[in-house]
Amino acid sequence: IPNSRRKLWGKSDTLSTFPTRQAHSHKGSHGKGIVVGGSFQMPGSIAMTAKAALRSGIGLLTIATTSNTVPLIAPFLQEATFQQVTEEGGFLSSANVVDWSQYNGAAIGMGMGRNQGSTTLVEEIFDCVEGPLLIDADGLYLMKDGLTQYSKRKDPTILTPHPGEFAHLIDRSIPEVMQSPFCLTRDFALQYGVYVVLKGPSTIITSPRGEQCVEVSGNAGLAKGGSGDVLSGILLALLLQSNSVFDALANGCMIHGLTAERLTESRHSIYDLLATDLIEGLPNTFRTFS
Ligand code: APR
Ligand code: MG
Repeated sequence: IPNSRRKLWGKSDTLSTFPTRQAHSHKGSHGKGIVVGGSFQMPGSIAMTAKAALRSGIGLLTIATTSNTVPLIAPFLQEATFQQVTEEGGFLSSANVVDWSQYNGAAIGMGMGRNQGSTTLVEEIFDCVEGPLLIDADGLYLMKDGLTQYSKRKDPTILTPHPGEFAHLIDRSIPEVMQSPFCLTRDFALQYGVYVVLKGPSTIITSPRGEQCVEVSGNAGLAKGGSGDVLSGILLALLLQSNSVFDALANGCMIHGLTAERLTESRHSIYDLLATDLIEGLPNTFRTFS
């Protein structure tokens, strides 16, 4: 890839591509999304994704999670609705009870656990979800054997691995990924026809056509469990509000990182900043882009 096709995504890019909200809009104009994940060990993960999506302008949000997770998180997510999903042993196992055609997009995998019984659920979602489908965390592990299915979707598929998850997906080591992150993500994106968001202190966003950009906002306050779950929620919300998948991904990473920077300049430090603080910091960041 010529280096000229790699771009550093800056604040001015976000300002010029940020989705506008029409004065005459209604909740349907801003997307109806569903997030799928959670397990008995990780109930908080899907809650953070959901809250971040709600704080990022999504019109309607549904949460599909395990039955024991619902009562734990529902009191904090009054704006969301819930969907019943079949489960086995505390893990999600099948989504055949969900009417996927109701939704404009989905994010799957956060806190889902790596129970093999959940593979069926991930495959069903691949076949059924219309609109953008974001796959994160455990969803990436569960999907590994069905990689060729990515290229069969007609709508955009977005993978958001950190280097460890990406290394696992391509059967390489983390040092190998870190040595050639641009080439490896581009090859993967081209081969499977997907968008890849390779997360880290610098995040590389790649389109299925091989366009790449780097987004460098954020700081070590984000190097904590849960930051990635928050990012998934922001990305889903922006994907449903934007005409460009690439812009939505880059802008979502920018919003996420800038929020951490601003919070650690004011009421927080990189030591104490939590993923939930990040969600509460989103309003201030969105205000500067609206
Ligand atoms: N500087 C800037 N940004 C950073 C930094 C840093 N030093 N460290 C992390 N980030 C950002 C990344 O760019 C990414 O957006 O924080 C986010 C971290 O995302 P993840 O690596 O997915 O972290 P996390 O939320 O902890 O996810 C942990 O992933 O590996 C799975 O199963 C595991 O559930 C676990 C989950
Ligand atoms: Mg993660």
